[in-house]
Amino acid sequence: MAKITVGILGLGTVGSGVAKLLADDARFRVKWAAVRDASKPRDVDLARVRVTDRPFDIIDDPEVEILVEVAGGVDTIYELIKTGIERGKHVVTANKELIAKHGSEIFELAHRNNVTVLFEAAVGGGIPLISTLQRGLQANRISRVAGILNGTTNYILTSMEQRGAGFDAALAEAQRLGFAEADPRDDVEGFDVAYKTTILASLAFGSFVDVESVYKQGITGITDSDISVAREFGYKIKMIGLAQRRAGGLDVRAHPMLVPARHPLASVEGSNNAIFISGSAVGEVMLLGPGAGQMPTASAVVGDVINLASALRLPDFAPYFQPAIDSKRSQACSIEDCESAFYLRLEATDTPGVIGNLGHAFGAHNVSLNSILQRGVTAGGAATIVLLTHKTSERSFARALREIESQPTTRRIGVALRVFEQAS
Ligand code: HSE
Repeated sequence: MAKITVGILGLGTVGSGVAKLLADDARFRVKWAAVRDASKPRDVDLARVRVTDRPFDIIDDPEVEILVEVAGGVDTIYELIKTGIERGKHVVTANKELIAKHGSEIFELAHRNNVTVLFEAAVGGGIPLISTLQRGLQANRISRVAGILNGTTNYILTSMEQRGAGFDAALAEAQRLGFAEADPRDDVEGFDVAYKTTILASLAFGSFVDVESVYKQGITGITDSDISVAREFGYKIKMIGLAQRRAGGLDVRAHPMLVPARHPLASVEGSNNAIFISGSAVGEVMLLGPGAGQMPTASAVVGDVINLASALRLPDFAPYFQPAIDSKRSQACSIEDCESAFYLRLEATDTPGVIGNLGHAFGAHNVSLNSILQRGVTAGGAATIVLLTHKTSERSFARALREIESQPTTRRIGVALRVFEQAS
């Protein structure tokens, strides 16, 4: 049977993994790989591959049936992919930013051109979770997806917790292991999780969520002492992507949370990802596995390529993998309209009345306190105080926080984190 011709955009960590897997599969011929620097040595046998620094060599080649995009970035790539689709090429991409920002236009264009765009590797690395949401759980009305969706931040938080590693050292190690984005601020400042959560929300709820409306907070403010105090309170700190239906609309956000230590998400360690899905028929399902790194991500990319190839060989190929998402965009609810319990760390003067001031600020804004802990005093006379509230509105908590910031006994607000709530 004739081989299916593939062109790869990008031969970085993931691209090299994809090239390795496809080289071992007799059904495919990788004809092209487009790279920024064609002279750079690569950890993959490219003897039969034409390496070019002109992506249009691939786009213009009518033999190429499947375009694999593992280059990352958005602007140039978006234009290349649109042109590839218009020329009848099927696309497999790992690009979460691209799908989160332009998925609606891309799928519409693909539909008009009778081609398929697959993106299993865009969320959850090697975990087959897009196909699970799109196909395996079709019989369900999904009420919530909550997950650990970034390998880098989970690796950093786990290293800080288990080995006492510093933030910067753990991030450097995640970079070395090939988990981190080209600009690791995308990982640690929450962008990557926001893109992935947007994609999951769009798939789960059937309408493209505007990524700009998704609230995000990164993990850079979290210290090892937050991790150990959270543990004393019975929690682990995890970077979470959360998408749930609410009476007022869709609640979609990406931020670190205190996850109860007994919840299955709390035990997801290292670069692993996991997603917890609540469906009307199935109940609760958790998928867990490697969320980043060369071969796990290549596994998801090549899985898509093989699925696509099988479909292409059917006598009446139709792009039936297209996600059932309404192209009309919806907005995530404003974070101000959400509710959570909160963890707050602050530094205050070690003087009489400090706890009273805090109690007053919370009481005045109707925020009920669950626990309060003061531990030691620094040489400069500052006391670190940690509080846990009961569930409250974001608005009330923000008002209390503003009042606390203005109190003369407050030296500095450290970090405020939300507490994960079990699905009701
Ligand atoms: N930087 C991403 C992560 C890669 O750490 O999860 C996988 O999307």
